[in-house]
Parts: sequence; C-alpha cells; structure tokens
Amino acid sequence: MKNVIAGGIVVTLAVCWMAGTSVGEDKDKPKMTIKEAMKLHKDKLNNKFQDGKATKEDKEKLIEAYEAMGKNKPPKGDEKDWKDRCDALVKAVKDDDKDAFKKAVDCKGCHTAHKK
Ligand code: HEC
Repeated sequence: MKNVIAGGIVVTLAVCWMAGTSVGEDKDKPKMTIKEAMKLHKDKLNNKFQDGKATKEDKEKLIEAYEAMGKNKPPKGDEKDWKDRCDALVKAVKDDDKDAFKKAVDCKGCHTAHKK
C-alpha cells in the first residue's frame, strides 16, 4: 500500500514537472511582468515618446514591454479590454502615432479597470 501511494506521488510530481517545463518553454510566455513593463512609465519613456524625443531603442523597449503586457493576465478586469488596450499601445508606438498613444496610455483609465 505504501508503495502505491509513493508511486502515485512520484507520478504526480513528474506530471507537475512536465507541465511546469512546457509552460517554461512556451514562446508565448510573457518576457516581463506588468510591473516590469510599468517601469518604463516610471522612467517617463511614455513622456519622451509623446514629446517626440524617444530614440529607436526607447521605442523598441516600449513595444517589447507592451507586447509582454498583453501576454500577461491583468490583476483584474475584462481580458479582452486589457488586450485591446495593450494592442493599441503597441500599435501607436509602431505607427509613431503620438495622438493614438496619448489616448492609449491612459494611466488612470487602465489602472481603474485593471489594477488591483
Ligand atoms: C494598459 C493598461 C495600463 C496603462 C495604460 C498604464 N498602466 Fe500602470 N499598471 C497597470 C496594471 C495592470 C498595473 C498593476 C500591475 C500588477 O499589480 O501586477 C499597473 C501598475 C503601475 C505601477 C505600479 C508598479 C509596481 O511596481 O507596483 C505604476 C507606477 C504604474 N502602473 C504607472 C503607470 C503610469 C505612470 C501610466 C501612464 C503613463 C500607466 N501606469 C499606464 C496597467 C496600466
């Protein structure tokens, strides 16, 4: 009986481990967390972009962060709305569209809807 239980635990652990690695190797796994992405806002990269002062690297960082954000689950709120907001941010930076960016980077609106 003991052996059966021990065997069961080993199998369970193995399954968990395999599930864990498959998630770890998933290329869709976000490169950073939402909080990490928000660091760019703390660094005022969004202001730089809006002032037209963002360098190519700044824009690449923003795109990377917003793409990663969209792959994360928001702490609360509707997932479709979240995805739309992140997609709009990515698109605005890619298009170099400051007006669209200004609308998309709505700190308060997004925090109210998605930040706990
Ligand atoms: C697309 C949605 C969205 C937009 C736009 C957005 N935020 Fe956030 N922000 C979030 C979410 C969601 C969190 C909470 C993350 C968590 O708790 O994991 C957050 C958290 C933060 C934090 C706290 C990070 C930490 O380490 O706890 C700061 C600071 C922040 N945002 C600044 C800003 C500023 C400044 C702007 C506007 C320029 C902004 N955010 C725009 C979604 C957004």
